Amino acid sequence: SANLRPTGQQPTATYESAFLKACRREPVPHTPVWFMRQAGRSLPEYLKVREGIPMLESCMMPELVAEITMQPVRRHHVDAAIYFSDIVVPLKAIGIDLDIKPGVGPVVEQPIRSRADLARLRDLTPEDVWYVTEAIGLLTAELGSTPLIGFAGAPFTLASYLVEGGPSKNHEHTKALMYGDPQLWADLLDRLAEITSVFLKVQIEAGASAVQLFDSWVGALAPADYRRSVMPASSKVFKAVEEYGVPRIHFGVGTGELLGLMGEAGADVVGVDWRVPLDEAARRVGPGKALQGNIDPAVLFSTPEAVEAKAREVLDAAADLEGHVFNLGHGVPPTTDPDSLTRLVEYVHTQTAR
Ligand code: CP3
Repeated sequence: SANLRPTGQQPTATYESAFLKACRREPVPHTPVWFMRQAGRSLPEYLKVREGIPMLESCMMPELVAEITMQPVRRHHVDAAIYFSDIVVPLKAIGIDLDIKPGVGPVVEQPIRSRADLARLRDLTPEDVWYVTEAIGLLTAELGSTPLIGFAGAPFTLASYLVEGGPSKNHEHTKALMYGDPQLWADLLDRLAEITSVFLKVQIEAGASAVQLFDSWVGALAPADYRRSVMPASSKVFKAVEEYGVPRIHFGVGTGELLGLMGEAGADVVGVDWRVPLDEAARRVGPGKALQGNIDPAVLFSTPEAVEAKAREVLDAAADLEGHVFNLGHGVPPTTDPDSLTRLVEYVHTQTAR
């Protein structure tokens, strides 16, 4: 496997990549860069291959998935690829009736809000997501020494789509269930932790060299509620993949007050959005963990000079970190000029070359 350093053997080029070294808090030749949502609508070559193919269907087509995953690597020379899929793919795979509506996001036909609804969340098996194994097989051959990041949605963020029935601003149904029926809530998150653990294991066993758990919307919670109602399930996911020894990244938006707990949940790398400078984030997370982030995605709509100034600010705040993976503070906005991303990768690489 490209993931673990085989005892008594030479480490692989993937293992020695700048991205995996930074995740392990080892010295790096340059600060590695990748972008959340780097594949997708900002790329004309993506729009071309996706033409006429619905999002969830595209996720089940191994050759198309491999092509889309490679596109930002070829174009931007990022230091890692992220497997092209979506956080709701494992839910679709166990038969939940959901769709991804363009410009809206995941929509669930019958929301999950009762004990009876919970029975619809059956276990995920590797056979349910055979296309993931196949696509990653194609990818590891093509990627060479560039690591592949596998990912999944964290239990809270998945629950928010299942309970609300779609995207939501205030997560009212989700919080109502969490506060009103703590036992049902705990059982729901535990089910989702099981499904998510299998989904990540499939990706690692197929060849993913790191995994990221997206808890995009958990910033809606206060720390005490996070600790009590979410952390046990997220910890269970991190524990489930611990034995593989691949770096585990944990990311959410608006999580400034939760950074310490998100590290404590079992992450090796904590993702930080643009609201908290990385030096301050390091104080909140504490020693022994790398950080990922955190340039404001909106600056990409500004001038090249403004992007460089902002990137410089991020690198300066990261100067004393044990390990830094450069990224945006959230995903690439669909209308981003891809050239601004290519220039940003080049800038970070030249500025940090050692
Ligand atoms: O970065 C990558 O290249 C990997 C691709 C990726 C997608 N979804 C593809 C996608 C990743 C990592 C995700 C994760 C995801 N999906 C998250 C967590 C990351 C985050 O942004 O916080 C969340 C919350 C979702 C749910 C979801 N799926 C949303 C909010 C949307 C956008 C809806 C829209 O159209 O604006 C999707 C759909 C989706 N997932 C698209 C892509 C490329 C757009 C669909 C399309 O191109 O037709």
